[in-house]
Amino acid sequence: MVAGAMQVYPTTAELVAATADRFIQIVGAAVTARGVGRVALAGGRTPRDLYQLLASEEYRDQVRWEVVHLYWGDERSVPPDHADSNYLMVKRALLDAVPIPDDNIHRIYGERSVDVAANDYAHQLHERFDLVLLGVGNDGHTASLFPGTDAPREKNRKVIPVFVPQHDSWRITLTLPIFNLARDVIFLVAGEEKAEIMREVAQQGNPTVDLPATLVRPLDGDLVWMLDAQAASLLMCS
Ligand code: 6PG
Repeated sequence: MVAGAMQVYPTTAELVAATADRFIQIVGAAVTARGVGRVALAGGRTPRDLYQLLASEEYRDQVRWEVVHLYWGDERSVPPDHADSNYLMVKRALLDAVPIPDDNIHRIYGERSVDVAANDYAHQLHERFDLVLLGVGNDGHTASLFPGTDAPREKNRKVIPVFVPQHDSWRITLTLPIFNLARDVIFLVAGEEKAEIMREVAQQGNPTVDLPATLVRPLDGDLVWMLDAQAASLLMCS
């Protein structure tokens, strides 16, 4: 069994809608309690539908964007207008459509040298995220904590540069010490290409650096895995 709760939705659309509702509820509760909501966003492809839904007319007024601060869990070592930029993906899907002040957008400067970018970003971070959104790759990586690199073993620094041999490129990533301080963590996983890795993650009883996603275990927060039926399709056979 995975750590935390698991929720499975029949379709990707239902998964995305449920994740948007949970986002709104968590951020709303943070704003009520502390006046601000701090969220670390996932990159990659899967969360784009979520960001677009949050930006839609139906959803965007349900978040007090003026007191929301957005961060990124990881970034590729590219400028912000590059097709691989996680910032650009979120900008197009969400930022351009919601009234969030520029000062509340805390992107990782992928155009700088990775050491400078990591160092600068560490200074922008606050103690705890209200919500961390994560995805899982087919090799079990999450954010840019890839198996076979030192990144999943980092115990002290909140942000590090990491060379990812699988992609032959550098990335900048937040690390487990900060992810595991979050008040809420959501893994968003969709599609049949995620079925096999979800089976492996679910079978893995103990956290392991070989499947870095299994190392995400908030010390004092809630963890939920949100899947569509395709991503969950091999779980019954495990
Ligand atoms: C990135 C990510 C990464 C992602 C997984 C899953 O920058 O690529 O933050 O960790 O979440 O690779 O990506 P998909 O959901 O697109 O498969």
